[in-house]
Amino acid sequence: MRLPSPAARSYSILNEFPPARKNLVTPWFVTILVGGVALSGYGGFILYQTLTMWPPEVRGDLRDAVRAKHEGDYRKSEQYFHRAWNTIRTLPIESLGSQPYLKLTGMALAFADVLELSKKQQRAYEVYVHALELLQQDDVKAMLTGPERLRAVAISSKLGELAKDLKKHKTEEEKWRVWAVEELLRIVKSPSKDDAGENVDYSHQGSFNLPLLALPSWISKTDIGAPLEALGSFYAEAGRLDFAMPLYLQAISLLIPPAPKKSTPEDRCRGAQLMGNLSEMIMRRPPSPDTLHQAEAWASQALAVTKKARAESSKPIDPCEEVYAAALFNLATFRNMAGDRNVARNLYRDGLEQARSIGLSEGVVEASRALHRLDMGESEPGQK
Ligand SMILES: *[C@@H]1O[C@H](CO)[C@@H](O)[C@H](O)[C@H]1NC(C)=O
Repeated sequence: MRLPSPAARSYSILNEFPPARKNLVTPWFVTILVGGVALSGYGGFILYQTLTMWPPEVRGDLRDAVRAKHEGDYRKSEQYFHRAWNTIRTLPIESLGSQPYLKLTGMALAFADVLELSKKQQRAYEVYVHALELLQQDDVKAMLTGPERLRAVAISSKLGELAKDLKKHKTEEEKWRVWAVEELLRIVKSPSKDDAGENVDYSHQGSFNLPLLALPSWISKTDIGAPLEALGSFYAEAGRLDFAMPLYLQAISLLIPPAPKKSTPEDRCRGAQLMGNLSEMIMRRPPSPDTLHQAEAWASQALAVTKKARAESSKPIDPCEEVYAAALFNLATFRNMAGDRNVARNLYRDGLEQARSIGLSEGVVEASRALHRLDMGESEPGQK
């Protein structure tokens, strides 16, 4: 990829800053610029602009690595990244500027991403392990900022995923997932010095990106609920509902924090979805009036949360629309089991309509069947 000529560069948003102020652009701001501009295909330009944010020792390799990656030559890219990664670890950490561990591990992530692209999952796994170990060193831990600690959570979560893909022993996957959750809870309980006392929005801190390296998308999805959800579903799949349930509860309380804290409609809908999962999990217990009551309470809460989140936003948000359809259906089923047919019918109808409007064919089929059975006067044969 050739660098655009100076003339071609002149319209870039980066150039809207007078030259003297360019250095004031924070990494956070650059994230947005890199994200937006890289998407429009000006990777080469960004490369040129931001290369200077890296120590001179790695610039050459980094530039060649990113260029080879853009050209789809992963083998070559891997070689350059490998060398840059080896080099950067020999440099004094101060040479990496502010939040140096974001840069250091960012290099590892970019390297591992190329390894994954060339289907070298095991090698990528080792690089991720190494990156995480760097963050877990005793003398390093105390100096990490919030985003750097969240980076560690993200890497550990990624390792959990890869351990599963690589079919490693279950305890290996569990180890990474547990560490991610524990660290996340430590961060929530005692944020780092730099953000102590403030109402830090961690859901956005995880997306810290780096000058030059557009990091893989999984890293930007890091947020507060995900590691808990992942560990919860790991235990649920393993049949350990006793471990899974408290994790779901924790995740719900983080996604839907008590007032006056607020969260986005998206997060609240994710919380509502977890309430649905919880309700389903409770129904797997031996049946009793008490389990039924609890399960319905969660289903009903899920519906209320989703309704409110939808009402507050002017356009449809992912995952609210699907969660809403499921919540209507679930609550309808509970009402039907209780013999409350009129309410059940109305909920099924709303659910059917919602499933139709978002093209959820499975939902349409299920709700139509349920309505049909209801109108035939049969009772619900089982629970969903
Ligand atoms: C919750 O349930 C939904 C729908 O059944 C499923 O897609 C999702 O993976 C579940 N989430 C967890 C964390 O178990």
